[in-house]
Amino acid sequence: HLDPNDRAKLTAAYHAMDFIEDGMKVGLGTGSTAAWLVKLLGARRHLEGLEILAVSTSEATEALARKMKIPTTTLEEAGWLDLTIDGADEADADLTLIKGGGGALLREKIVATASDRMVVIADPAKMVETLGAFPLPVEVVKFGWEASQSLVRDILEDSDVEGSRILRRMRDGAPFVTDEGHFILDLHLGRIGDPEGLAADLLSVPGVVETGLFTDIAETMVVGLPSGEAVFHF
Ligand code: A5P
Repeated sequence: HLDPNDRAKLTAAYHAMDFIEDGMKVGLGTGSTAAWLVKLLGARRHLEGLEILAVSTSEATEALARKMKIPTTTLEEAGWLDLTIDGADEADADLTLIKGGGGALLREKIVATASDRMVVIADPAKMVETLGAFPLPVEVVKFGWEASQSLVRDILEDSDVEGSRILRRMRDGAPFVTDEGHFILDLHLGRIGDPEGLAADLLSVPGVVETGLFTDIAETMVVGLPSGEAVFHF
């Protein structure tokens, strides 16, 4: 008994399976939509004998892939990937994305850009006209993170955004720490007028490791509908 949103996520993952072919090296995303993909891929390997080698974008995905008996390796070992399939928190019509709601944005971006193609899988609520209602995750090193945060705040004042509230991400009463050992600042911007410009400005701050803005990376998006049908965006 899946609710309509979960059905939409499962549907997106199901239709994205068509992009995975025998012999491929595949990047596996992070989040609840990507988790469906990992489960479907595990099932397909057993039913069809599909041979693939996977690279995970987080420790959580790696654990699920192992549970599903999907062969995994490191990105160093794999070298280059044919395809990465991952979820998103928001996507606009150009397939510019906000990612990192699950905190895996850094590995996700490294894996996606080390792939011939990135396919995004999502439920319809992720498609937006303008990015920014979802807080933009920015990964910062722990050392001097408050100094980095001040410089990020200065940038927001000069940017084409609506809001400027910054919250360091917490989990269970303690600062959230990424798989790479960094903090996440969630930027509550409301509306991001110039995603490329903002991403470049944020990356100029010492201590900022990566932002959750994915510009010019995703090539295809599969939006699953609760009905079991999917809409493809290229
Ligand atoms: C993980 O860091 C994120 O980039 C996810 O891809 C994003 O949060 C999507 O998650 P859901 O598939 O759970 O919505």
